[in-house]
Amino acid sequence: MNIPFNSKLPNVKTTIFTVIGKLATEYNAINLSQGFPDFNTSKELIDLVNISMLKGNNQYAPMPGIYSLRQAISQKIENLYGVTYNPETEITITAGATQAIFTAIAACIKKDDEVIVFKPAYDCYEPAIDLFGGKTIAIQLDPEGFKIDWQKVKKLISAKTKMIIINTPHNPSGRVLSYDDMIQLEGLLKNTNILLLSDEVYEHIIFDGEKHQTAALFPELAERAFITFSFGKTFHNTGWKLGYCIAPAELTKEFRKVHQYNVFSVNHPIQVALTNYIKSPHNYLELSSFYQDKRDLFLSLIKNSRFEFLPSTGTYFQLLNYSKITEEYDYDFSLRLIKEKKIASIPISVFNKNNYDTKVLRFCFAKKNETLKKAADVLCAI
Ligand SMILES: Cc1ncc(COP(=O)(O)O)c(C=O)c1O
Repeated sequence: MNIPFNSKLPNVKTTIFTVIGKLATEYNAINLSQGFPDFNTSKELIDLVNISMLKGNNQYAPMPGIYSLRQAISQKIENLYGVTYNPETEITITAGATQAIFTAIAACIKKDDEVIVFKPAYDCYEPAIDLFGGKTIAIQLDPEGFKIDWQKVKKLISAKTKMIIINTPHNPSGRVLSYDDMIQLEGLLKNTNILLLSDEVYEHIIFDGEKHQTAALFPELAERAFITFSFGKTFHNTGWKLGYCIAPAELTKEFRKVHQYNVFSVNHPIQVALTNYIKSPHNYLELSSFYQDKRDLFLSLIKNSRFEFLPSTGTYFQLLNYSKITEEYDYDFSLRLIKEKKIASIPISVFNKNNYDTKVLRFCFAKKNETLKKAADVLCAI
């Protein structure tokens, strides 16, 4: 380009998911990199979408989403957590959680505002903060247990802190925040004007009897929180890009100011289908045991490999430490695994502060059992 152009995001490159996904296809590798299932979403849901389209729900949906879906979400939240979100003023349907997260950041972050982010972190937070002139204050979690040191967080809170972003269950670590974590966070934020963005897209993928500690359960958190969810993660259809954001009315009002000029509204026929589908709780309540079986299968198959691991307690990701195998930088090792062993994973340094390398790769186990078996055979031979 001959026109001098000063990029707003000079450090942003093509995401790791695109890079690895392309290589995985090129080398015909078993792909456990990006977080999506290799099995189909339910036929019942596909049929509901077809019916919805045939019935003519093919024009713009209302800006905040169709009311019946917001009502069904409100009911679901009430049934699960015993808290009430008003469908009229506190729930907005979005184009996946990514758009919800972007919109919440866009609505709140101004130049020089500080946002505390825990690393490793999902990769869409920081570019959005940058775009609006904010500053990411990254806290690197220790790779052994990924525990948050709340005293450290307290020290980093300043007059400029505008928002804290949490993610539970956590991608990529597979750890979950405990009740005690949420109480500590509540204690820190009480009597401050700091906002909370709580990314809870894996709300229904939580193992070993752990309970999801949504920010909605903690009054001092809920009053300042945008909480984001993803239907794609819950119903095995990440390609449909539908999700939602719940937040108190004042915050939702600001959220919608951005939303209406960003996407205005999102996929109408699928909203109608989801309204019916989420009315049956088994469609999401069985998800934890479904994925726990996959986690257990995968881990039992690789237990004699040279990879080391702590079983994931949530999400459909499993971290594997390869330090007994090689000293290589995780990025290089992940590329070599694709090219030489035909298996794709994500090096977690890409989610870390300053690309800190801990010799750990992330594997997605949202795959057919036969895919997991093939992957395990490869991993055991490394
Ligand atoms: C932690 C986290 N947040 C948000 C998203 C984005 O969700 P969606 O596909 O609904 O935009 C993902 C997807 O991988 C994720 O892992």
